[in-house]
Amino acid sequence: MQLPKLSPLQSRLLAFAITTCLVVVIWVCFQPNYFAYAAEIPVPPEVVQHSEFEASIPPAPPDDPPVEIRDGLEEEESGDALYAPTFAYFDRSLVGRQEADKPLELNNNRMMDIDIDPKETKLFIFKKNQLSQRSVPEDIPVARGLEDTVNGTLDAEGRSGENNSVKRQAQSRIWISANTCRQPVPTVPLVTESVPQLTLQIWTTTSSSAARPSASKEAVGNATFSSGHANYTFSTDEDVYMEVTAPALTEGWAGSWNFEIAASVDDGYYHNYDNSTNFIYMVDTDSDSTLFITHNMTDFNDTEQVAKWIDAHKGDNLPFDIYAFPDDAWSPMMGVERSYCGLKEQFETSNNLSVLSSITTQFGQGLPKGMFNVQGLKTSMNYTGFLALNGTSNMTIDGTKAQGGGLVFKSFQWQTKADDTCQVIFGLEECSTVAYAVPSSPQWKNNDTGLIAFYDDLAKKYMQNFRRSLAQVACDTAGTAQYSLARTCTDCETDYKAWLCSVLIPRCEDWTANDTWLHPRNINTPFADGTLPSSDNLSMQFNATVRNRFAYNQSRNNEIDKVIKPGPYKELLPCEDLCFDIVRSCPAQLGFACPDPPMRELSYGRRDEKGIDLKCNFPGAVVDLTVDRGAAGMLSYRVSMVVLIAVLAAAWSWV
Ligand SMILES: *[C@@H]1O[C@H](CO)[C@@H](O)[C@H](O)[C@H]1NC(C)=O
Ligand SMILES: *[C@@H]1O[C@H](CO)[C@@H](O)[C@H](O)[C@H]1NC(C)=O
Ligand SMILES: *[C@@H]1O[C@H](CO)[C@@H](O)[C@H](O)[C@H]1NC(C)=O
Ligand SMILES: *[C@@H]1O[C@H](CO)[C@@H](O)[C@H](O)[C@H]1NC(C)=O
Ligand SMILES: *[C@@H]1O[C@H](CO)[C@@H](O)[C@H](O)[C@H]1NC(C)=O
Ligand SMILES: *[C@@H]1O[C@H](CO)[C@@H](O)[C@H](O)[C@H]1NC(C)=O
Ligand SMILES: *[C@@H]1O[C@H](CO)[C@@H](O)[C@H](O)[C@H]1NC(C)=O
Ligand SMILES: *[C@@H]1O[C@H](CO)[C@@H](O)[C@H](O)[C@H]1NC(C)=O
Ligand SMILES: *[C@@H]1O[C@H](CO)[C@@H](O)[C@H](O)[C@H]1NC(C)=O
Ligand SMILES: *[C@@H]1O[C@H](CO)[C@@H](O)[C@H](O)[C@H]1NC(C)=O
Ligand SMILES: *[C@@H]1O[C@H](CO)[C@@H](O)[C@H](O)[C@H]1NC(C)=O
Ligand SMILES: *[C@@H]1O[C@H](CO)[C@@H](O)[C@H](O)[C@H]1NC(C)=O
Repeated sequence: MQLPKLSPLQSRLLAFAITTCLVVVIWVCFQPNYFAYAAEIPVPPEVVQHSEFEASIPPAPPDDPPVEIRDGLEEEESGDALYAPTFAYFDRSLVGRQEADKPLELNNNRMMDIDIDPKETKLFIFKKNQLSQRSVPEDIPVARGLEDTVNGTLDAEGRSGENNSVKRQAQSRIWISANTCRQPVPTVPLVTESVPQLTLQIWTTTSSSAARPSASKEAVGNATFSSGHANYTFSTDEDVYMEVTAPALTEGWAGSWNFEIAASVDDGYYHNYDNSTNFIYMVDTDSDSTLFITHNMTDFNDTEQVAKWIDAHKGDNLPFDIYAFPDDAWSPMMGVERSYCGLKEQFETSNNLSVLSSITTQFGQGLPKGMFNVQGLKTSMNYTGFLALNGTSNMTIDGTKAQGGGLVFKSFQWQTKADDTCQVIFGLEECSTVAYAVPSSPQWKNNDTGLIAFYDDLAKKYMQNFRRSLAQVACDTAGTAQYSLARTCTDCETDYKAWLCSVLIPRCEDWTANDTWLHPRNINTPFADGTLPSSDNLSMQFNATVRNRFAYNQSRNNEIDKVIKPGPYKELLPCEDLCFDIVRSCPAQLGFACPDPPMRELSYGRRDEKGIDLKCNFPGAVVDLTVDRGAAGMLSYRVSMVVLIAVLAAAWSWV
């Protein structure tokens, strides 16, 4: 391409023009007051609309900087600057100086957080030049061209005449979201009404006036905060105004709000709430702690990739947070149940629970899951919990990407155990799939390490003996000498271990738990207060059928009663299929057999056909807390198999 030839006069004029521009630019840059402008030259909307440079904001050095800057200066001098630049990373004191009706400017996908008093309003603007600031690659088609192709709520109204002469800019979808981080607190002990919520109103305007829309024509919509979260999305090619209004406080409330607001054109909300899943399972609970695992955290199962993922998220790098609050008449999480910052702030200031987080691959095909041990809970107390995914994680869950503001999942409820008889343990060496409450006693309450060592050492001893026996069977010989074509010694060892761990390390429930499938143990051991369990039934018949039988008056494993001394408790029996599996998998020489009914009922439980209740124990059994507390007031448990165990459907054979 050839450069146009210039006459000497034209060249001199050009040189003069360039120098002038440079001087002005330099002058502007070194005026301390206007650093902000230098960083981001305010462009009136009209200019953007007509400019062929509409996609390159902030313009680096623009064609005609003096004019544009002077525009800004004039506005500043007249005290009427509509576009006072503000930045999310400026501190609140600066932002707090906002004058009435001067909109604060939001940048794409940058959150701004602001205090607001009752009856106050805060006005924000998302200028149309930001609509082209997508920071994600355009993989989802966005409406392009002169015609509206996206069903925006706004565009139902036709354009007024003034726009017809203007070449229409492509519409972009904008996602607006806000979270309440702090809110008024009740001043009365008995709170009957819900926490007053902020409201968000959104409108666009073609004029440069920031005034509220007079007619509903330009209004886009309202998004009342719901549990501390508001969102709204539509398509536009205009400046977008957002106004957050705080209601007047009624009697019984005091304080003010703090909220985060963000607008994004990056294919999703900055703040997200997932109302369809809580993304978590409860493994088990005791009187002062509860163990949870998340669903699968990766959707890929390639060993190498998984290892890499785990490595990147080890230690403090787990992108999840778990928040828990005791259920009371008033709980500080009320009103911010869908707000990440709200839950975080309330959790950190309102209670002294601690959470140990880690990644586990013990549940389900080696796929990584988050594991949380919430500690410091109160005995026999109902809790509401929330899982939140940090926005810096880049993770997509159920199709929702956690943008900068993160993702809060639906809440879940659970109740801690009543006695110190049961204690949650996990992280055993031999029985690595054991993660549930086991028989314990107050003496072991603060000695997890000792308790784990006791059970694990026991299991190691048994496994050692078993491996020795197995080695004597012709296991690894090929062909006809092999004991079974379908099962190998590895299967036998795996199945034996699954069975042994659940038999040797019983799953413990409170004595007061009433589920019919629970089996009482140590029924003749008095409680701490000296009373005898079932002291209301001392009949001869009860003694003969229950009290005097080993199945009831001792633990499954004598060592437990000797060393741990748990007192009376109830056991969730191991599933009978664990026993069937070893009979099927192991060589006949080892002589395994399962007891027949009715004896079997005293040793093994049977899985719930409906998959609703956890009626017996198996490795990887977890409780699904998705079902909210029903009208009956009971927690409804749904059992999920995280570890899939082959269930023997047909008859098992004696060997
Ligand atoms: C617009 O909405 C109509 C009816 O609500 C629907 O049939 C159509 O597919 C929508 N178009 C787009 C592009 O979403
Ligand atoms: C939003 O709420 C305000 C005040 O309640 C009301 O005046 C306005 O009409 C509402 N706008 C829309 C689009 O619903
Ligand atoms: C938007 O808000 C509604 C109501 O609070 C909520 O159900 C929905 O999940 C939110 N959507 C996102 C993506 O956060
Ligand atoms: C979740 O939110 C969507 C849209 O906001 C709504 O249609 C759906 O009914 C909600 N689901 C639940 C379980 O609340
Ligand atoms: C986790 O992934 C495994 C393997 O893909 C799958 O079998 C299992 O159902 C998944 N579990 C959950 C809770 O999604
Ligand atoms: C990964 O998942 C695929 C199907 O989802 C399955 O065929 C494959 O066996 C799995 N690989 C591993 C190592 O679990
Ligand atoms: C998310 O993680 C980042 C980096 O680890 C941290 O700075 C930020 O505070 C976290 N966000 C929330 C809401 O916890
Ligand atoms: C998320 O993605 C961004 C850009 O793609 C990258 O800079 C950042 O390191 C990623 N964060 C994590 C935790 O992987
Ligand atoms: C925990 O139990 C072990 C095993 O009985 C014992 O050696 C250790 O002293 C105990 N630790 C505490 C702190 O009680
Ligand atoms: C179990 O039943 C007894 C007697 O009916 C009752 O006192 C107790 O509260 C029940 N326990 C639970 C946890 O429901
Ligand atoms: C049943 O056993 C209890 C406890 O050992 C004893 O106190 C009671 O007298 C016995 N009842 C009869 C009828 O023997
Ligand atoms: C916990 O919840 C259960 C079931 O909703 C209820 O019966 C019980 O009274 C609650 N306990 C407390 C201490 O609030």
